[in-house]
Amino acid sequence: LLPKTVDIVEVGPRDGLQNEKTSLSAQDKIDFIDQLSLVGFKRIEAGSFVSPKWVPQMASSDQVMRAIKRFDGKRYSALTPNLKGFDLAMQVNTQEVAIFGAASESFSQKNTNCSIKESLERFAPVAEKAKKHNIPVRGYVSCVMGCPYEGDIQIKDVVWVSKALLDMGCYEISLGDTIGVGTPLKTKALIEACLQVIPSNQLAVHFHDTYGQALANILTAIQLGISVIDSSVAGLGGCPYAKGASGNVASEDVVYMLHNMGIDTGINLEQLIQVGKSISAKLNRNNGSKVGEAAP
Ligand code: HMG
Ligand code: MG
Repeated sequence: LLPKTVDIVEVGPRDGLQNEKTSLSAQDKIDFIDQLSLVGFKRIEAGSFVSPKWVPQMASSDQVMRAIKRFDGKRYSALTPNLKGFDLAMQVNTQEVAIFGAASESFSQKNTNCSIKESLERFAPVAEKAKKHNIPVRGYVSCVMGCPYEGDIQIKDVVWVSKALLDMGCYEISLGDTIGVGTPLKTKALIEACLQVIPSNQLAVHFHDTYGQALANILTAIQLGISVIDSSVAGLGGCPYAKGASGNVASEDVVYMLHNMGIDTGINLEQLIQVGKSISAKLNRNNGSKVGEAAP
């Protein structure tokens, strides 16, 4: 059942950098994203059109989107939680947008200042307008394995929010283990439940590696037919809501595992490792990739 190829969505420039203490200049972000393109990623989440008061690290997303090199066959996406964000994203030629909901009421409030239901009401016009512009929309669901405020989250709550986003027109749903609490058996139960209502080619997984479970969870997911994985180079990021939390699973570690299983990603691992080393140095942080640390 293992897929022959897996698409990796590199979310370091967005999910990684949005949670780093050091804010990069727009130019440094542009260089970083251009390097990620050259390494072979076909999908890069390059920014976020959200309130700069809420997430100051993403404030230069318009400059970044304007200046990054666009390569044929690659898509550069950004988060757009409302119409204001969508319109800003369109002004700078964003090729794909993402709306982001949660399976936890408390997290929805803290993250987007509204209930789950209200968030869906804000996303609907974004999805509608995106359709008119022929812009693919990705849907995220946060807290699929647990919430920093509510603890356990029921699978049925993940399933209904995911289905609501799918019905709104999202071409793909990315299941976010926001605080990295998931484990393989939980991952299996969750994905099996989601597969009842969402085809495997429209599901992606987005694991943060806080508890060191991400690779095991990813292996579980691909064994169930999932072939789109979100990760961030050097495991950039953290989580403002979970003390000591690490970022997304490191892209280098995912690519290393997949290539050694005979699964193609289109990524040049050696070059990726170098990008991970240089961005870690630039941010003055430890390299969050085990593979990156081990490599000469
Ligand atoms: P709000 O305060 O309810 O919205 O925020 P509002 O419409 O009342 O607007 C308030 C102010 O924000 C106004 O400015 C608006 O103009 C401005 P003011 O008049 O006060 O100067 N504003 C905007 N500015 C720029 N771009 C926009 C925008 N919208 C309003 N799009 C809002 C609602 C969603 C905007 C706010 O709560 C927000 O920006 N939240 C940030 C959420 C965020 O970015 N979280 C991180 C990403 S999600 C994530 O990381 C999880 C994920 O990785 C998956 C996982 O791991 O689980 C995806
Ligand atoms: Mg995330």
